[in-house]
Amino acid sequence: MRVGFYQFRPQFGKVAANTRKIVAALDKVDAELIVLPELALSGYYFKNAEETLLLSEDPKRSNHIDSLINLCKKKNNYIVIGFAEKAKDKCFNSSALIGPKGIIHIYRKLHLFNEEKLCMSPGDTPLEVNEINGIKIGMMVCFDWAFPEVSRTLAMKGAEIICHPSNLVLNFCQQAMISRCLENRVYAITANRFGSDNRPHGTLRFTGKSQIVSPKGDLIFRAVSQREACYITDINPAESHDKFITKHNDLFLDRRPEYYKC
Ligand code: ACM
Repeated sequence: MRVGFYQFRPQFGKVAANTRKIVAALDKVDAELIVLPELALSGYYFKNAEETLLLSEDPKRSNHIDSLINLCKKKNNYIVIGFAEKAKDKCFNSSALIGPKGIIHIYRKLHLFNEEKLCMSPGDTPLEVNEINGIKIGMMVCFDWAFPEVSRTLAMKGAEIICHPSNLVLNFCQQAMISRCLENRVYAITANRFGSDNRPHGTLRFTGKSQIVSPKGDLIFRAVSQREACYITDINPAESHDKFITKHNDLFLDRRPEYYKC
């Protein structure tokens, strides 16, 4: 399966321009599945909940999401993208799995990071795995990395590839995701952004270094920090079916959940 990510620098608040940039970049790419960063249409560093709502998308009536669906139709492929999702008067930090027939699933980030808690609502949908061309895809968003329950749940539901749109500002996630893949024997594609959101209320700089990790914990590729990168590679999702780390240790069958009551 040909998979990859597009690491770029969204311009804060320029939803139409960011969408055009994504469509132009992905139009040139030959891959079955491409993962984009968190909040890739709007930018990240919102001032407050009102501003977030103004820059968010109702996925059922969004020209921007529709142009990604049209791209998937044209290329006959799949995109995972992080976006600010408007749902009535709430806004979620969501990730959409999009294909040629439209939106397949929307995941709403369960674990909001720092000031996101002032601007968005925490996710209210269960973790789900969805099939594309027979391959099982799970989604998590950025800071979910710090909650190993998320990747564990997705893996136990059968995910072969975890798609992980991100806007990372700390330096821990890229290394931590190697453990998430190793302990669950799954692939993970972390698509991070680079550059800064310079806002009147402050500046945030994002760390880039988007990456793909194998079920054995091998770093297949990591991009540089502050440069655009579109990386595509061939992987074998079936490698995620082997949960043995030694011949006596199946990482799923060896679990002792009766002792994990917390
Ligand atoms: C993050 O969750 N965007 C750090």
